[in-house]
Amino acid sequence: MIRERIEELRRQLEYHNFRYYVENAPEISDFEFDAMMRELQDLERAHPEMADPNSPSVRVGSDITAEFRSVKHRFPMLSLGNTYSPDELHEFIERIEKETGPTEFVCELKFDGTAISLTYEHGRLLRAVTRGDGTQGDDVTANVRTVRTVPLRLRGDDWPDYFEIRGEILMPYASFDKINAEREAAGETLFANPRNAAAGTLKQQASAVVARRGLDCTLYQLAGDDLPFTNHWESLQKAREWGFKISDQMRICRSAEEIDAYIAHWDEARRELPFPTDGVVIKVNDFGVRRQLGFTAKAPKWAVAYKFKAEQALTRLDSVAFQVGRTGAITPVANLEPVLLAGTTVRRATLHNAEQMALLDIRPGDMVYVEKGGEIIPKITGVELSQRPADSRPFEYITVCPECGTPLVKYEGEAKHYCPNQGGCRPQIIGRIIHFIRRKAMDIEGLGEETVELLYENGLVRDVADLYDLQAPQLACLPRLGEKSADNIIRSIRGSVEVPFRRVLFGLGIRFVGETTAKYLAEHFRSLDAVMKATREELTEADEVGGRIADAIIEYFADEKNLAIIRRLRDAGVKFEAEARELASESLAGKSFVISGKFSNHSRDELKELIEIHGGRNLAAVSANVDYIVAGENMGPAKLKKAEKLGVKIISEEDFIAMIGSDEIPAANAAEKRT
Ligand code: IVH
Repeated sequence: MIRERIEELRRQLEYHNFRYYVENAPEISDFEFDAMMRELQDLERAHPEMADPNSPSVRVGSDITAEFRSVKHRFPMLSLGNTYSPDELHEFIERIEKETGPTEFVCELKFDGTAISLTYEHGRLLRAVTRGDGTQGDDVTANVRTVRTVPLRLRGDDWPDYFEIRGEILMPYASFDKINAEREAAGETLFANPRNAAAGTLKQQASAVVARRGLDCTLYQLAGDDLPFTNHWESLQKAREWGFKISDQMRICRSAEEIDAYIAHWDEARRELPFPTDGVVIKVNDFGVRRQLGFTAKAPKWAVAYKFKAEQALTRLDSVAFQVGRTGAITPVANLEPVLLAGTTVRRATLHNAEQMALLDIRPGDMVYVEKGGEIIPKITGVELSQRPADSRPFEYITVCPECGTPLVKYEGEAKHYCPNQGGCRPQIIGRIIHFIRRKAMDIEGLGEETVELLYENGLVRDVADLYDLQAPQLACLPRLGEKSADNIIRSIRGSVEVPFRRVLFGLGIRFVGETTAKYLAEHFRSLDAVMKATREELTEADEVGGRIADAIIEYFADEKNLAIIRRLRDAGVKFEAEARELASESLAGKSFVISGKFSNHSRDELKELIEIHGGRNLAAVSANVDYIVAGENMGPAKLKKAEKLGVKIISEEDFIAMIGSDEIPAANAAEKRT
């Protein structure tokens, strides 16, 4: 009965997942989908013996840290010959047709992501491996399982028992923009382009992070021993029937003219696509002809990649401006004579940092090449030296902050200069306040960027704590603000003291402490006092907190000015503690645990929750501070070795439950978890 229901839910969820993500044609509402998913998760939790690594419920990922195993490819992952020139492309076609007679080509887009090889056995996803060096790559299966367009179980029943399918893991522009906006708010370095973001995400340690990043996967090549197809086109049509996402943009072309037309079309039309592409791949369709042509050492002779030229324009660099970010980071920005590039007028381009400028020897007055390549923000790629003015001199980078005059500093390992005057530099002060009031932080409505600037200009705010001292009449007399909006703003500020601790912690704007890190810190330490007291080592015991983040936290709390702000926020009633949990017992008081591996009767989150409600502490990594490791299946061998070396006790899930007597979680806590 239950097994049947679980199977039915899995089938339904797979189907609707496919309709939604692959075919873009959902049949049911998100609400209905979520309800089914919840039912499945509940049943799977209650019946761990029916667990399945390919159940649709794994799409949400987990916080098990992946240690990527290196896997040898059964069929090597080759690269492609590249060309930018139509003439070379025509030679490629002629060379082939001379050898084989007229033949069909399949033209496809060249997706600009990161290559992946998926192995299916008996219709189920067995493994996902990155390209690596072409011979062996990293096993990133847990992460790839969260990608909604990768089928975990295939549709139909006419697939080969064992085969590989290759394609590209892509990050659509929409996901890319969202992630970079979040990283910017957290003061983290941005991903330069969707390709880096996709590759970086695949190598993320926690698959739950991957699940949130909105990756996509398009497949373009099957590999296997005896595949039942005579040509590429047919093989991909079948793959589509099995549930894979296959590009809608592929075409069969029968002449050089048709190929040229395909390229010309997509060189323009790709701008409308929601994901990045950097060329067209032209492949011989017929597998017999492919066999006849064979391979070079690195690439097939039956395919070539024609790369689109990044669009370039030549224009004058009028001047260089310097932006100061919330963290004090200085970014040089080129002011350009407006020029048309890839359909938009470009007036500004990033110059990245001093090193980059020196490398290209960029000087105001120069004619410079501007490109919009894979990157979203246009960049300057070179200088037309033949047009350099005779009296030109090398550019001298600024040494003091353009906003406040403070001498700039450089931190080790960072390319950018920083203005260290956090407390007195206008854009930094305003930037921090704007960050604090963001929706994902204190969510203070009615206060936008302009109003914050207005408050600053009128001497009403100098730091985030000043917000809580504001009175409505002070606001009402400012330009553009009436009594009503003043009242609303004050009400919203006062109301923000109810915001949970994790969002307050995010709002403080500690370097590298983004939304997710703040959440983990809050869950682990439960109060600001505990975060402030923690040593570097203790800080890194929280999930996703590494040395760099720990250092930034310590630096933040070492600053007396920050401490003063925190005291005033505390007086205003801002929450510096997580909601108290209803304790079930104190039987684990003073004991620290690490959860490792997979468990049959409880999820990892449940075990963590149980540890905390019995007064124990969860740590992320094995160290001398750990009392017990609760070990499930597949506990990493490195962890095991370390635990044995340190003499940490290793106990099973059952031992652990016996230790606390009952695995019941008070309803109040369970409800809190869901929100
Ligand atoms: S076919 C034997 N088709 O380009 C060749 N590759 O430069 C198998 N790529 O590593 C590759 N879009 O990551 C093929 N439609 C497409 C592609 C594509 C992007 C990437 C792939 C490969 C690289 C080769």
